[in-house]
Amino acid sequence: MSADGVAAQPFLAGQEITGGYGRGPDILHGCTIAVNPGEIAVIVGPNGAGKSTAMKALFGMLEVRSGAVLLDGEDITMLSPQDRVRKGMGFVPQVNNIFPSMTVEENLEMGAFIREDDISGTMASVYDLFPILKEKRYQAAGELSGGQRQQVAVGRALMTKPKVLMLDEPTAGVSPIVMDELFDRIIEIARTGLPVLMVEQNARQALAIADRGYVLVQGANAHTGTGKALLADEQVRRSFLGG
Ligand SMILES: Nc1ncnc2c1ncn2[C@@H]1O[C@H](COP(=O)(O)OP(=O)(O)OP(=O)(O)O)[C@@H](O)[C@H]1O
Ligand SMILES: [Mg+2]
Repeated sequence: MSADGVAAQPFLAGQEITGGYGRGPDILHGCTIAVNPGEIAVIVGPNGAGKSTAMKALFGMLEVRSGAVLLDGEDITMLSPQDRVRKGMGFVPQVNNIFPSMTVEENLEMGAFIREDDISGTMASVYDLFPILKEKRYQAAGELSGGQRQQVAVGRALMTKPKVLMLDEPTAGVSPIVMDELFDRIIEIARTGLPVLMVEQNARQALAIADRGYVLVQGANAHTGTGKALLADEQVRRSFLGG
């Protein structure tokens, strides 16, 4: 581990990524994001800073013009999103992350689409993590509350048995109590040894549970450190945490 807290080999890393959408301008400017084995890394920053774009770059949904994406030491910069799922990446996007007209259980089954082995054990562990989903398993996912739909989305990603879990704003639009509950489940997931990289607009609460935090501004790294250090940083507090 170096002084700034990045392991010699982070499990997933975007290194100095510059890129944008299609033929459009660069959105990311030399952006570096890494998550260590067994840790929670959190990306925060203002609206439009490029947080979702950074996640898409790591997942292979963006044209990376320079820089690299490494998974467990392997350069995966040129791989398609599907191939990244096969390599062990689970991604829950910010929007459209469930199939609303399908039941909860069908959503989980869809999540396991790349698997050919028996998925019942994984489904049981998702229901253990999110008991309400078991209760509502035959209900259309679109009928669930916001927090429950986010549980479906996270559960769906877990169905691939990922080696790293990426969550883009898992607590968007939920009440503070539901947010706390979701964070507790995310901590529980990370404690099983699964590294978690998430984007959060609830910056304070997210940094409080983060081993490592990134503040992105205009597609570039503005501040990086442990969650604790960022929460204590005067400039970060004033500019991004409301004092
Ligand atoms: N599909 C797209 N095509 C073109 N430009 C896009 C696309 N998606 C996002 N952008 C642009 O990229 C920039 C960064 O957007 P991005 O969604 O990554 O920000 P964000 O930090 O996730 O914001 P938010 O907090 O609102 O989710 C913005 O200027 C946005 O307009
Ligand atoms: Mg976003």
